[in-house]
Amino acid sequence: MSRSCVITTEEPNWWLTPPAEASCEVGGTEKEPSGERANGWDRQPVALVRFADSAGLADWVASLLLRDRLLRPERPLGLATGRTMEPVYAALARQVNGLTPTERQELRMCWCSFNLDAYVGVDRADPRSFAAEMASRLTTPLGLDPERVHLPDGQAADPHAAAECYAAQLAATGGIGLQLLGLGLNGHVGFNEPPCEADAPCRCLELSPATRQQNAGAFGGDPEAVPQQAITLGLREILAAERLLLVVTGGAKAEVLARALREPPTPELPASWIQRHPRALVVADGAAAALLDADCNPPTAVRTASAVAGPGHAADPDLGARRGPDLRPTSWPTR
Ligand code: GLP
Repeated sequence: MSRSCVITTEEPNWWLTPPAEASCEVGGTEKEPSGERANGWDRQPVALVRFADSAGLADWVASLLLRDRLLRPERPLGLATGRTMEPVYAALARQVNGLTPTERQELRMCWCSFNLDAYVGVDRADPRSFAAEMASRLTTPLGLDPERVHLPDGQAADPHAAAECYAAQLAATGGIGLQLLGLGLNGHVGFNEPPCEADAPCRCLELSPATRQQNAGAFGGDPEAVPQQAITLGLREILAAERLLLVVTGGAKAEVLARALREPPTPELPASWIQRHPRALVVADGAAAALLDADCNPPTAVRTASAVAGPGHAADPDLGARRGPDLRPTSWPTR
C-alpha cells in the first residue's frame, strides 16, 4: 500500500507556508498508473489530526478559518454546510466575538467566501436551504455583508447555467484559498456524488438516494422531500484550492474515511481524490478516525487530543507578529 496517510500531531510545514504554484493540476488522465502515480497524478501523504474531544476539534478548525481570513484574504475561503460544521461555525462566532471591534471590522472588510453547494429549487429564505443555514450560522453572527458570502443560486430558472455562472464568479477571484470540506457517508465531498472524476467541474447534478436519505433530517425525515438536484463545486474547483481541510466526525464515517485515505483514488469514492492534493489536512474525532491507526504508512505519530490548549502557536510567526497572541489559533494537541 502506498503512502496515503500520515497521522501527525504537528501542523505540517506545508500547511503554513504559501504554495509555490497552483496546488493541484486537474485532468491528466493520459498516463499509466505506476506506483505512487496513477492517472498522471502524484499521491500525496494526507496529514490527519485526531481529536478525542469534539469541542476541541471545532475550536481548532474555527481558528484555522479565522486565521485564513486574517492572514490570507487574497483568495476566498471555501465553506461547507452540514451537521459536522455546526459546532465549527458556533466556535467561529465565539472566537470572532472575542476580537476587538477593530479586528472584527477588519475581518468583515476582508471576508469573501464561496460555499460548496446548494439544493436546487429551495428558496433562500427557506430554513432548509444552505443559504439560510449560512445566514443564521455565519453571516448574521459574524456581522458579515451577505454580498461577501457566496452560494450557488439554487433558485435559478436554469440551474445548469447558474452552476456555470458560479464557477465563473469563483474563477474571477483566482480560485479558493482554503477549502473546508465535510464527508458524505457515500464518500461525496460537496455534492459530488460517486462516480465522480477528479476533473468534474461545477455543475448541477442528481442527488443519490443515499445522500437524500442522509440529509432527510432537515426535511422532516422524509428522503422524498429532499430535493432531487443540487449545484456543487466540482472536484476540479475543490482540488484547485491552495489547501484542503476535511473535517470528519462520528463513527458512522469511520469506514468511508479510512477508505478515502487508504485506497487508491477512485471515482467511486470522490473524497479519495484529496490524496492527489499536496496540502490536504484531515481533522477527525476519535470515532471517525477509529480505523486509521493500524496501517497508515508511515505511522509517524499517533496521538489523541483530550483538549486544545490555550493560545500560542509558535509555528506561525507571521500570525504572532501581526496579530499578537490573542488571535493565535490554539496549539496542537498533546496526549
Ligand atoms: C452534505 C453536503 C456536504 C456535507 C456532507 C456531510 O450532503 N453536501 O457539503 O459536508 O454532506 O454532511 P454532514 O456533516 O451533515 O454529515
